[in-house]
Formats: sequence, C-alpha cells, structure tokens
Amino acid sequence: MDKTEVISGSPYSQIAYETTQSPQWGDLKILSGTANPELANKVAAAIGIGLTEMEVTRFADGEINVKIKESMRGHDVFLVQPTCHPVNENLIELFIILDALRRASAARITAVVPYYAYARKEKKTQPREPISAKLMANIITLAGAHRIIALDLHTEAIEGFFDVPVDHLTAIKILAGHVKRLGLQNIVVVSPDVGGTRRARRLANILEAPLAIVDKRRPADDVMEVMHVVGDVEGQHAIVIDDMITTGMTVASVAKALLANGALSVRVLATHPVMVNGAIELLRSAPIEEIVVTDTIPLTEEQKKPPVTVLSVAPLIAEAIMRIHSNGSVSELFH
Ligand code: R5P
Repeated sequence: MDKTEVISGSPYSQIAYETTQSPQWGDLKILSGTANPELANKVAAAIGIGLTEMEVTRFADGEINVKIKESMRGHDVFLVQPTCHPVNENLIELFIILDALRRASAARITAVVPYYAYARKEKKTQPREPISAKLMANIITLAGAHRIIALDLHTEAIEGFFDVPVDHLTAIKILAGHVKRLGLQNIVVVSPDVGGTRRARRLANILEAPLAIVDKRRPADDVMEVMHVVGDVEGQHAIVIDDMITTGMTVASVAKALLANGALSVRVLATHPVMVNGAIELLRSAPIEEIVVTDTIPLTEEQKKPPVTVLSVAPLIAEAIMRIHSNGSVSELFH
C-alpha cells in the first residue's frame, strides 16, 4: 500500500519518518493479530515498513497457536489487535501473541488495542458482578504488554486499570475534520447520554457549536427510552457523538427524538462500529443522514455502503507508534 494513500486528508498527514531504528529499543516491528489486519497494514504502510510475518492457526479443538516468523529479540514490538467481535477469540489471541513475544525476548512490547472490549463493564452496578474491564487489563499486562495504545476508551478511568503506561488516543479530531468539511451552518453537538457529555463537549469546542444532551434510560439491553432532550436543537443540524454503536438502538432512538424536537437533520459520529444484531439495517431505516465511524473494527463492504462513512485511524496510530518508538511526546495526540 502506498504511504501517501493512507495519510492524505488526515490531520496526521504531516508525518515523515526518517528511521525506524531507536538506539534504546532496537528495530521497530509491527505485528497484526487476525482481528483487523487491514488496519494493521495501513499503520505499517503509513510508517513505511512491512508487517512482521506471523502465523495464527487453530488446533482441531479450536485452541489458538501462533508462530512469529522472525527474531523479536531486543526489538521494539507493536502488536495491533482490537478486541472486537468475536471478542473472546480475539482477546485470547491477544494474550497468546503477547506471551509469544515475551518469550521471544522482545525488548519492549506495546499492545495496540484500538477497540477495548468489556469496557462497559468497568464497575459493579449490582452486588456479585465482575469488573471485567479491570480483569482484561490485568491479563493483558500479565501476558507481557509493557505499554498500551488505546483509542477512545468507553471511560477514561479504564486507563488506571493498567499498571503500565497507557497512551489513550482520540479520533475526535478525525471525526471533527469530516464535519468541518461538510460546511454545515447552524449545528448543535449532541451527547446521546449523560455519560458522554465530556466527549460531546470536546467536539462542540472544536466545532465552536452549542451542546445538547439526551437523557436516556436503558431498562434492559434491548429497550431504550429517550426521556428528554436537554438543550435547544430546533432549526439546527444535529451532530450526535458516541464512543461506539453496538445494536444501533441508542442513536436510532436519539435521532427520532431530535427530529421530534425540531432538528433539521441528524448525523452520527462514533469511533467504534461494533455493529451487532442487524445494527446497520436498523440505522439505515432510521432518520439519519450519515453515520461516520472509524476503522478500529473491520466492516464488510456491504456495511460500508452509504449512509456509512469510514475514516481511518491508521495515520493517528502510526504517529503515536513513531513518537513512542523515538521517545517523543504523545500527549498532543490526546487532545
Ligand atoms: C453506552 O454507554 C455507549 O456509550 C453506547 O451509547 C452504547 O454502547 C450504544 O449501544 P447501542 O448501539 O446498542 O444502543
């Protein structure tokens, strides 16, 4: 893949990587699990290196085996593996590849987990429940990760679940850039729930737009009720921002409520297109002009068709990798 093809049009397109050798960490190596090889390839292409070859196979009973095809000894290794659907398969694969890298004496191992599963189970809401997001963090570290690159985690508190450094990137600039290119006048940024207010406020600041918040209730997994729209959306183009779309129920109901409250149109931005249980079909039948997501999770060609737009986070991840590899500051990628 051509490097310019990956980075053009991105706010992270000014990158020029002179060398992929660091005196401290050895050579830069990028590996991909099977969760999202397309994204990993784009990241490697943006940096200008090839992916390290690795075979991931299954034994007859379904157990996973991996074989890394070149020496990892003394190298600075980045493993790209979002823990998207099939979640448990991809998680176990992540743990096993990390273990293989640790046993292969890699100098430093960074788990690049653009989508972090179990993130919504980050606290107990009832007695005798697990905190699965913490458990996954424990196992990732135990398996061998020295650092983590994550992207738009469901809540920022998850960073603290890791006892190793976490570079928590955000795709907000990429999503905002898309909205700016549309050149819409009279926009209002909408958080689909109270928990997402901080994220929506950041977007509203970038777009210099007012903010509205939807007060929703989810009494059961498959039931969504919009209670109120807080803020003025009448006569405005609504830009709804969420971290992920799972079944699509949240944004479909929010879109209807916004139009009922006088919004002119509704567009949805979300970093992670989890898209399960017919989400795309539900969204296509909802009154939504455009659904803008990123490629943290792979979609089929059919799912990528309009009104879905997919923006790549590969240049952002590539830039973070190069800064980490050269001991540069990553903090400006967080804002
Ligand atoms: C929940 O708090 C998340 O931020 C999303 O709003 C939620 O995961 C979306 O789920 P669904 O698409 O199933 O409504």
